[in-house]
Amino acid sequence: MSLLSDPGRQLAPALSPEARALPDSGIIDVIKYGAGRANLVPLWVGEGDLPTPEFITAEAARSLAAGETFYTDQRGIPELREALAQFHQRQFGGKFDADMFLVTGSGMQSIQIAIRAVASKGDEIVLPSPTWPNFPAAVISQGAVPVEVPIGYAQNGWKLDIGRLFDAVGPKTRAIFVISPGNPTGMVISQSEMAQIIDFTRRHDLWLITDEVYSRFFYGDGPVPSFWHEVEPGDKVLFTNTFSKNWAMTGWRVGWIAAPPELGQTLENIIHYNTSGVAKFMQRACVVALEEGEDFIAAQVAQAKAGRQIVGEALAGSNRVRYAPPDGAFYGLFGVDTEPDSRTLAFRLIDEIGIGAVPGSAFGPGGEGFVRICFQRNPAQLTDAMGRIADWLKR
Ligand SMILES: Cc1ncc(COP(=O)(O)O)c(C=O)c1O
Repeated sequence: MSLLSDPGRQLAPALSPEARALPDSGIIDVIKYGAGRANLVPLWVGEGDLPTPEFITAEAARSLAAGETFYTDQRGIPELREALAQFHQRQFGGKFDADMFLVTGSGMQSIQIAIRAVASKGDEIVLPSPTWPNFPAAVISQGAVPVEVPIGYAQNGWKLDIGRLFDAVGPKTRAIFVISPGNPTGMVISQSEMAQIIDFTRRHDLWLITDEVYSRFFYGDGPVPSFWHEVEPGDKVLFTNTFSKNWAMTGWRVGWIAAPPELGQTLENIIHYNTSGVAKFMQRACVVALEEGEDFIAAQVAQAKAGRQIVGEALAGSNRVRYAPPDGAFYGLFGVDTEPDSRTLAFRLIDEIGIGAVPGSAFGPGGEGFVRICFQRNPAQLTDAMGRIADWLKR
């Protein structure tokens, strides 16, 4: 008895069109090519190099040891939903209620749930490109259609053409999706642009799905722009978010959705028929992250700021490079004038200097010609990596 492949039969074509339409990830593609090489500095994945701090892991261990291993509240334990409300209140002011929050199995799953909640087969979701590719892929997985609107790169950085974004909205559009600060661009949508976007969605009766997972990683003056400052009761808005970045918890796979409370039951149903909730011992640890994690976040942001500086200085020395320091997140997205094909460039960086970067083409049509590096790493290692890139650019 065996499930090994039968060379005489092709099973993949028998899968659903939605499953077959899913693109291979351009991020995984480059990792598969370069992983495991000696002396390689991996700047490809969107995470720092620190493990989750002990004050968070200790709480998970305590909860496990206390036997909190049973089925759990599918919307999230009340303590965590309350802690999320408080966390938002501290950052944004305004009125937050535990009823607005549902705990999910990652930022990625929050996005899946949000799309499933608003879009059906054939519906369109409009979004700026380049973008984190998992969002358009998640749209495709539901049989809906991502409509990617290129963001332009100008000398002073990536700039959203808001008129172009609105022009892409048509009769089949159900939602606009935006990430701010952006991945991979680091672009931050201004507060007045956010006001225009939400006003547009109101007038056209569209959903807004917004991802502000990097909102603590902001390098501009004043508070980070946020759709939280624009939303009003009755708005068709879903916020997707994650514990991954602020608290170095990428491997935990816990996120959240903030939504109008009246959607709670439907969103809970989607969770119920999917994962049926997040393990309680992880949720307990997330409460501690929210309540005691401010110093750790400050250290993370300081490291990212230092990383941004190191990348900026290393790339400033070359006149072959197109690069503007990002306003937010922790990625440097740069182009090299003689290297129009970003996949070739990324593979060359691996082969020739042992640097793992992601080709911009992995982030959609707007990303070609650029590669992304993550600068949320310890400064010594990043300085070494950027030195290699700067020397390579001089060749
Ligand atoms: C913009 C953005 N949203 C969401 C996520 C997903 O986070 P998670 O690790 O929780 O799936 C990422 C991860 O890189 C991201 O860059």
